[in-house]
Amino acid sequence: IPVPHRVQNRQVQDPALTERVAGFADGSTNFFNTPDTDPDLEQNRAWGREILSKMEHSPLGKELVKNNTLNSAGELDESIAMGVDASASWQALGSAKRAEILHRAGLLFEERRATLLEVLGSECGKTIDQGDVEISEAIDFAHYYAELGRELDAVDGAKFVPSKLTVVTPPWNFPMAIPAGSTLSALAAGSSVIIKPASQAARVGSVMVQCLWDAGVPEDVLQLVFVGDRSLGQQLVSDERVDRLILTGGYETAELFRSFRKDLPLLAETSGKNATIVSPHADLDLAARDVVQSAFGHAGQKCSASSLVVLVGSVAESRRFHSQLIDAVKSLKVGYPWNPESQMGPLIGQPGEKLKRGLTTLGAGETWAIEPQQLDDSGKLYSPGVRYGVQRGSEYHKTEYFGPILGVMTAKTLEEAVEIVNEVDYGLTSGLHSLDKDELSYWMENIQAGNIYVNRGITGAIVQRQPFGGWKKSAIGAGTKAGGPNYLIGMGSWEDAPAKQ
Ligand code: ALA
Repeated sequence: IPVPHRVQNRQVQDPALTERVAGFADGSTNFFNTPDTDPDLEQNRAWGREILSKMEHSPLGKELVKNNTLNSAGELDESIAMGVDASASWQALGSAKRAEILHRAGLLFEERRATLLEVLGSECGKTIDQGDVEISEAIDFAHYYAELGRELDAVDGAKFVPSKLTVVTPPWNFPMAIPAGSTLSALAAGSSVIIKPASQAARVGSVMVQCLWDAGVPEDVLQLVFVGDRSLGQQLVSDERVDRLILTGGYETAELFRSFRKDLPLLAETSGKNATIVSPHADLDLAARDVVQSAFGHAGQKCSASSLVVLVGSVAESRRFHSQLIDAVKSLKVGYPWNPESQMGPLIGQPGEKLKRGLTTLGAGETWAIEPQQLDDSGKLYSPGVRYGVQRGSEYHKTEYFGPILGVMTAKTLEEAVEIVNEVDYGLTSGLHSLDKDELSYWMENIQAGNIYVNRGITGAIVQRQPFGGWKKSAIGAGTKAGGPNYLIGMGSWEDAPAKQ
């Protein structure tokens, strides 16, 4: 059941699209998923080349980072107090006015797509295609939560009381879309927000927040905060005035945050070790393409990435599948994103101990089909690796490495493949390639993952259609699916009526 392709002509004037987007301003347009940029059009490629020419040395956001860094406990304390105070007027503004501002933010994200792509590439190594879908997702969050926010006020017999202060601590790998989801839903609900972007992606976060300020979100309602040291980070997480803390990061970080404050109102999307199962009833050409995209997009640095593929029955022996997979991986052009040829960009930094092990060390029974290579002195550029013979229960089977490595496992039956996938502690994304209805039903009933995808890649959830969130050790807190309604409802509570979840 492939998801319809949403790529459309963007940079060339499209009257229908322009009209629909304009309709947000007067409330006549309901939510729709915004289209990505179509690279097949020469005009769009010229537009892209212009962005690439500025990317390597892009200074965007530097000033914002400097001006928003807090260096003392007193400054942070004031910032928290300001956020709490500001929530009253933001709430009093009403959901219709808030929606207007958030729609405007979505339109500004669109208007500044080129700027955002530039900084996503320069700071985080995102190739244009990866950055483009991320910006579309952020735009979707703006329009979706703006619309849904209005509905909170329209519930009969119940009054929605938003959190006063939400703190958002996003990751560096989706530094635009993920904070956009958390921030826009909290703002739509009527909460103030303090956002502390990941230090590796500070400029992307700043440029995004500037769009929200320019759209009309007051600067005390949405504060951009960088903290000068670790102890201030701990203070921010521990402060009892924080009603909700939204974290996207490693499971260990969530545990650390919980050790700072016992009753931490945490909503966390954490780690994943995700797999795609390929059945003998699959379209093998499609499966090979989707596995490669899911494993190596953004150099595998996605919580949603497929770092395992489990081949069922005869697929394990299929020469055609193996040669397609290996040829496709070998053909990936690795390089910095400002090089137009690059299909896979660099790592965000030099690999830490765990990833280094994943890139260099084989477990028992494993062999490199393609051994990853360090490509330059920066220590950040690695070619993709594929390891065969990953054993059930091995370190590779269960560990999230967050890099460009794919492990291949085999199973005799679909049932065994599902057991292999479910043995992992995490449960974020999972995929099945099969054209057999009974197999689909079995897999859907039994697979343990928050986001399950059939006959498509397992990254790139789409707002409203595929709300994104984890299961098992991939999520902490209820209502964790960003891009769905419960995420918004979780930004507050109901008075005078039972919960409406
Ligand atoms: N929402 C991101 C994805 O689906 C993490 O890939």
